Amino acid sequence: MTFQQARRAARMNPSIIREILKVTERPGIVSLAGGLPSPDTFPVEAMREAAQRVLRESPREALQYAASEGYGPLREWVAGHLAEQGLRVQASQVLITTGSQQGLDLVGKVLVDAGSPVAVESPTYLGALQAFTPYEPQFVSVDCDEDGPVPEALEAARGARFLYVLPNFQNPSGRCMSEGRRAALVERAIALGLPLIEDNPYGDLWFDAAPPAALASRWPEGSVYLGSFSKVLAPGLRLGYVVAPKALCPKLLQAKQAADLHTPSFNQRVVHEVIREGFLQTHVPTIRARYRAQRDAMRAALERHLPPGCRWNVPVGGMFFWIELPEGVDAMQLLPHAVERGMAFVPGAAFYADHPRANTLRLSFVTVSPERIEQGVALLAQSLKELAR
Ligand SMILES: Cc1ncc(COP(=O)(O)O)c(C=O)c1O
Repeated sequence: MTFQQARRAARMNPSIIREILKVTERPGIVSLAGGLPSPDTFPVEAMREAAQRVLRESPREALQYAASEGYGPLREWVAGHLAEQGLRVQASQVLITTGSQQGLDLVGKVLVDAGSPVAVESPTYLGALQAFTPYEPQFVSVDCDEDGPVPEALEAARGARFLYVLPNFQNPSGRCMSEGRRAALVERAIALGLPLIEDNPYGDLWFDAAPPAALASRWPEGSVYLGSFSKVLAPGLRLGYVVAPKALCPKLLQAKQAADLHTPSFNQRVVHEVIREGFLQTHVPTIRARYRAQRDAMRAALERHLPPGCRWNVPVGGMFFWIELPEGVDAMQLLPHAVERGMAFVPGAAFYADHPRANTLRLSFVTVSPERIEQGVALLAQSLKELAR
């Protein structure tokens, strides 16, 4: 029996990252490919205690179906947390989602028709391209520099349903948008009537100073903001949130109901129990310190090993370095050589909606010790030399 598949199914592709990760699970490989947070940062003990408390104090509520909007106290917590960062929203605007990845899917479901233009950064988060693609958008890549989307280039996005943008420690490029760029970008977006979908899973992982305020705080009525507990607690919880202007909330909620009725109540209650008395204020700084040391190790290793002609910017937060290889070198061709030698990375081409730049690649520094980072980067450099021969 052959099933006749929907047109949208034909557009879905296996994630190249997942395919690469399969290879890198081989023992002994130094994988700088993953986008996973370090499991050493997961607050196992706090989670265990909170889970026990929830099961002792509200077991039946925690195990029952619950509101699609999310657990009230957690929505309140999110609104309070965002207010501390200058983004004033009401708890009624917060929709708790099954990871922020689900938020991206809901945004696609509610805002994208087949053929509608959707503007994205160049490069951008592969998972967002995957989330939007089934809704059959026409992607428009906006030109970017080291500071993010170039405001003048937003003209190309005129008429798009939205611009999807990651101002803080972008996945994959690691870049963080300056205050001036944020102001200019929002000004252009307002002039064009171009809504913003702001994705911010990495904003709390800064190394020296907090990033400037969210784009959404500058244009609340034109922005949808996505946040996540994956990088500050643990991704296996699948907890994220979408904050939208009031007029959009009912549709996002209906889309969420159709998808999964609600985000797991047990997880929401446990997380609220963990964070409600300020746990993140002591926990997140430990993640920052750890990732900063690993960033430093990778920076030193890149300087030591990579041949002339390679370029990278030093991330001031988040999890990634973005490397530009000399023109003409194809990272996809380099990958099998690197894996053969014992290291892995993600070729940058995967992160472009169109016009991929073949000479780019992404390295993650958070799941590997400084010694292994040094080894991995040395192997990358050897593979580059081998390919050049
Ligand atoms: C930019 C970006 N957005 C969203 C997500 C999805 O995160 P979550 O675990 O909250 O679904 C990720 C995960 O790596 C990401 O890098």
